[in-house]
Amino acid sequence: MRLPASLAALLLILPAATAAEIRPGRDFLSPELRALQEDEARHPGMLWVEQGEEVWRRTPALDKPSCAGCHGDAAGTMRGVATRYPMVDRASGRLLNLELRIEQCRMERQGQPAFGYESPELLALTAYIAYQSRSLPMTVRIDGAAAPFFDAGRAFFHERQGQLNLACSQCHDDNAGRRLRGDVISNGVGTGFPAYRLEWNAVGSLHRRLRACSLGVRAVQFDYGSPDYLNLELYLAWRARGLPMEAPAVRR
Ligand code: HEC
Ligand code: HEC
Repeated sequence: MRLPASLAALLLILPAATAAEIRPGRDFLSPELRALQEDEARHPGMLWVEQGEEVWRRTPALDKPSCAGCHGDAAGTMRGVATRYPMVDRASGRLLNLELRIEQCRMERQGQPAFGYESPELLALTAYIAYQSRSLPMTVRIDGAAAPFFDAGRAFFHERQGQLNLACSQCHDDNAGRRLRGDVISNGVGTGFPAYRLEWNAVGSLHRRLRACSLGVRAVQFDYGSPDYLNLELYLAWRARGLPMEAPAVRR
C-alpha cells in the first residue's frame, strides 16, 4: 500500500532529526490543552480521579476489606508508587504495570473477580493512584529480573512494523516536534496515562494509546495487558526516567 502523502512528506522529505533529549508530553501540547491539564478545577480527567477515590474506599463484600482498609490514605501510602511501574512481581516473575498490580490486589487480597482492563473501575483506580505521583520523577528498574523484559521492549520500539513499515522510534525519536495529521509528534512517553483524550471523550489507558499507534502504521494491535505492550511500557518508562508523572494528562 502507498504511504499517505502527509506521512511520506514527513518522513522522506524532511531531513532526519538528530537524537535529542526526551521531553515530557506536556511540552508538545497546545497552550489551551496545557492550561486545561494544569487546572484541576476544569480538567475533565479529575472526574475519574474522584471516582477512583470512591472505589478505593468501597467495601467489596461484607467480610472483605476495601483498598483503604489495608492501604489507608492513598495520598501517603501510594505517593511515588506509579513512578516505579512496570515492575517485576517477585512471587510470579511476571512484569506488572499499575493496572495489573491493582488487579492482583483485587483478586488475591479482596477475593473478587478482576475489574477487567479498560473497565471504568480499573481506569478510575489507576488514575487515582497515578495522581498521587503527579509531578514526581519516573524511576523504574531495568536491571536483574527486569532486564529481559526491558531488552524485548527496546527491540520492539526500534523494529519496523506494519504495512507502513515504520518503527516507533522513526516517529517519536526522529520526527518529534513535527506535525502529523493535526498532531504534533511527541517523544511518545507514557507518563501522562491514564489520560483524558478529547478524541475518546474519556480517560483511557496507555495500552489503548499504543493500540492507536499500532493501527496508525497498520500493524498488529496487541491485547490490553499483553506481554508485548508491557515490555514496551517498561522501555517507555525508562526512556522517561527523571521526567515528571503527568497522569492524568489531557491529550487531543
Ligand atoms: C488485605 C489487604 C489488602 C487489600 C484489601 C488491598 N491490598 Fe494492595 N497490597 C497489599 C499488600 C500486602 C501489598 C504488598 C504486596 C507485595 O509487595 O507483594 C499490596 C500492594 C499494592 C500495590 C503496590 C504497591 C507498591 O508499592 O508497589 C498497589 C498499587 C495496591 N496494593 C493497590 C491496591 C488497590 C487499588 C486495592 C483495592 C482494589 C488493594 N490494593 C487492596 C494488601 C492489600
Ligand atoms: C507514524 C508515526 C507514529 C508511529 C510509527 C508511532 N506513533 Fe506513537 N504517536 C504518534 C502520534 C501522531 C501521536 C499523538 C501525538 C503525540 O502525543 O505524540 C502518538 C502518541 C503516542 C503516545 C502518547 C504520548 C502522550 O504523551 O500522549 C505514546 C506513548 C506513543 N505514541 C508510543 C508509540 C509507540 C510505543 C509506538 C510503536 C509501537 C508508536 N507510538 C508508533 C505517531 C506515531
